[in-house]
Amino acid sequence: MITAIIVGAGHRALCYAELANKQPERFKIVGVADPNEFRREDTRRRFGFPAEMMFKDAAELASRGKLADAVINGTMDIDHVPTSLLLLEAGYDILLEKPFAVSEEEVRVLDEAVKRTGRHVMICHVLRYAPFYTRLKDLVLKGEIGEIINIQTDEHVSYHHMANCFVRGKWNREDICKSTMLMAKCCHDLDLITWFMSGVNPVRVSSFGSRSFFRREKAPANSGEYCLIDCPIESECQYSNRQLNLNHPARWGAYVWPQIEHIENPTMEIYEQELKRKDNPYSRCVWKLDNNVVDRQSVMIEFEDGVTVTHNMVGGTSRPCRKIHIIGTKGELSGIMDDNRFSIYKIDTRPEHEYTTEIIDLNNEGDTTGAFGGHGGGDLRLVEDFVSVLEGKEPSISCTTLADSVNGHLIGFTADRARMENRVIDM
Ligand SMILES: NC(=O)c1ccc[n+]([C@@H]2O[C@H](COP(=O)([O-])OP(=O)(O)OC[C@H]3O[C@@H](n4cnc5c(N)ncnc54)[C@H](O)[C@@H]3O)[C@@H](O)[C@H]2O)c1
Repeated sequence: MITAIIVGAGHRALCYAELANKQPERFKIVGVADPNEFRREDTRRRFGFPAEMMFKDAAELASRGKLADAVINGTMDIDHVPTSLLLLEAGYDILLEKPFAVSEEEVRVLDEAVKRTGRHVMICHVLRYAPFYTRLKDLVLKGEIGEIINIQTDEHVSYHHMANCFVRGKWNREDICKSTMLMAKCCHDLDLITWFMSGVNPVRVSSFGSRSFFRREKAPANSGEYCLIDCPIESECQYSNRQLNLNHPARWGAYVWPQIEHIENPTMEIYEQELKRKDNPYSRCVWKLDNNVVDRQSVMIEFEDGVTVTHNMVGGTSRPCRKIHIIGTKGELSGIMDDNRFSIYKIDTRPEHEYTTEIIDLNNEGDTTGAFGGHGGGDLRLVEDFVSVLEGKEPSISCTTLADSVNGHLIGFTADRARMENRVIDM
């Protein structure tokens, strides 16, 4: 039985902790550390551990020595390294949320602490565990498409995701949350790229991007300052809080209404009242906030073996999706994760033919998502793998150790520097 303590009992950590309910014979949550009293009590109620296993933060937990095998570190980006350093010294193995660091210096410090303490640290790069990407990796490893020549990835961040997390939300200002949009959103894609390129180092990076749409001068004529308070055109605005949130309270509820999470089954009046409070950033017009992260960004990477890679992040799209196209010397893999289906293209030299297409449809292979949580089924598969590693078993091909996750983050930091300094950077 592997035991774990939740550090930062927010939305993400509780998703991972769900494995304890699904596999109680293997995994048990035995404590919580969080400055938020409601979250501490709520976590204790969910998992039934004694009151003395509640701690006001990571530092208090670490000061008590080792009380479980591991911690699930679901704190915010800026707290990942400072809290993990204390927990490593206390002897914990860590399942650590992404982005696991907010600077190259933090990557170095954490990497050094992990090597020195010899603990297991696994990063929540959950997409590696989604069957869609695991199958692609397996085919690449088996040589199905030969040597990789080029990789193209795209992440389309939908209009509601963009507005709720990166314009009105808690990742809307680099100077406060310390993560750029690229790192907060696409460290997954950069991780997937380095995973497919495993063992080969990136050597050069360039990037372009800007915040071009979500600016005051782009606001529609006659719009107000506060969406549900003074906006005469609210009913026809696609970014209205009514359209984005009141009509879909469950969709981004954990982000939009954390201040009322203690209320069981809030009424629509309560939800609406919160969005009419001027001190709540979610009440503001989407074009008139103090957000400063980009709403589009493209990254180009060259690896030491000459492989070229492009990644596009586009915010505000109608359809949310992640796309990938891997081109090799013997074939191509191409698909959209959200379709849970991809194609394999091969050269076909027969007369009247050009190429063959084989479609791998994971939807026909049983429940590949629902039973294993969000991110295409990656969430709980990741925790299962973490537990397996702590049980001493062989890690899966998706295993996201810190050492194996460093290159993706370093590309992200370098790309943001390249974008801001308008130059190509040698890594
Ligand atoms: N893997 C993914 O795909 C994915 C998806 C979304 C978010 N995330 C990441 O997950 C992390 C958590 O996001 P969230 O929305 O669940 O955050 P959240 O704000 O809901 O939860 C963070 C919790 O940490 C607590 N906390 C703050 N300081 C602490 C300390 N010193 N010790 C212990 N607890 C402390 C806060 O009180 C809060 O309850 C972020 O880094 C985010 O970028 C990852």
